[in-house]
Amino acid sequence: MKRIQIINGPNLNLLGKREPSVYGNLSFEAYLEELKKNFPGVELFYFQSNVEGELVNKLHEVGFEYDGIVINAGAYTHTSIAIADAIRSITTPVVEVHISNVFKRESYRHHSYLSEACKGCIVGFGLDSYRLAIESFL
Ligand code: DQA
Repeated sequence: MKRIQIINGPNLNLLGKREPSVYGNLSFEAYLEELKKNFPGVELFYFQSNVEGELVNKLHEVGFEYDGIVINAGAYTHTSIAIADAIRSITTPVVEVHISNVFKRESYRHHSYLSEACKGCIVGFGLDSYRLAIESFL
C-alpha cells in the first residue's frame, strides 16, 4: 500500500472558519475523511503545524520512506528557504498545493520558494487540489 503524507502549514488548522469566501466552509479534518474514502488503497497521513521548523522536521521524518508528500505550506510558501531546502534534501517526491489560486491574489503570493524544489504544483482548485495531488502519485 502506498504511503502518502499530507503536510499543512500555518493557519490551515482554521480551515472552515478562516476567510470562508477564500478557503470554503469545510474543516480539513472533515475533508480528510472524504479523501480517505476516495483512496481506500492508500495509507494517508496528516500533519499540521503553525511552526516552520516542525514542518521541516516532518519532511525529514517521512521524506526517505514514504511514496509521496503533499504540502500546503500556507504563507511559508512565500518566505521559507528552510522548507525549500528540506524538500531538496529528501528523496520522496513532493507536490505543492494551494487551495486558492494564488496568482489571482496579492502579488506577494505569486512567488513560491518551494515550487522549483517540488515535482509539481496544483493551485486553485479549492480542497480538491489535495485530491489531484494524491492522484499524481498513483
Ligand atoms: C494558501 C495560499 C497562501 O498564500 C496563504 O498564505 C495560505 C493558504 C492556499 O492554500 O491557498 O495560508 O497556501
